[in-house]
Amino acid sequence: MKKNKLRIVVSSGPTREPIDPVRFISNYSTGVLGYKIAEIAQKKGHKVVLVSGPVDLKKPQGIKLIKVETAREMKKVLLSSLKNSDCLIMNAAVCDYRPLKFSRQKLKKENKGLHIELVENPDILKALSSKKANRLMVGFALETENLFNNAFLKLKKKKLDLIVGIKAGRYNSPFGLSKISPWIIDKTGGCEKLSNITKQKLSQKLLDRIEGLWYTKIQS
Ligand code: CTP
Repeated sequence: MKKNKLRIVVSSGPTREPIDPVRFISNYSTGVLGYKIAEIAQKKGHKVVLVSGPVDLKKPQGIKLIKVETAREMKKVLLSSLKNSDCLIMNAAVCDYRPLKFSRQKLKKENKGLHIELVENPDILKALSSKKANRLMVGFALETENLFNNAFLKLKKKKLDLIVGIKAGRYNSPFGLSKISPWIIDKTGGCEKLSNITKQKLSQKLLDRIEGLWYTKIQS
């Protein structure tokens, strides 16, 4: 493989945290952005592994796709996929919580005032960053307020090279095929503000930035 081509792992889609055999906790993520990033990275000549939660999208051609369901499964798969990689793009919308207990029987309505106890899921990106080695780590931050501050704080806490901050609001949904206005923030606090662009455009921009960082890394 050429020196300027990377082995990239992309995570995408939501995770699903089962409650009983017919119900789960999840979020609105559709996987569109993660799949687009994977597809464009592959077209640029990089070697791509896509780790995806449950989504309704076609497998991009020429890419190794590993499907997972829960946050804990995603963590396990990412841990092993990352061993032979140069870069992680953590686009998955990981559920922060899961039900403490999985009920093997369907929970019935007769149990009036149902309470489901939740426990925290692992922060996958934070855990993986602690074993970062020479790898580039890229995260996402979906925020309803204080986009720059919240995203930059996550970049620092999770020891990332880049973070993409995306605003979400009631009348401003970033999910699915909608255009978005993402901010690409680097370690120094430099912020590239993009306005009303497609997820295809963001994917291209982000991969250009990653290639630039990789080039600097291999030169030094
Ligand atoms: N992430 C992760 N594991 C989690 C939660 C998030 O790996 N349990 C990753 C996401 O894939 C994303 C980044 O961390 O790249 C930030 O995710 P986000 O949901 O915006 O923030 P959280 O860290 O969950 O913090 P909060 O929910 O308080 O905003």
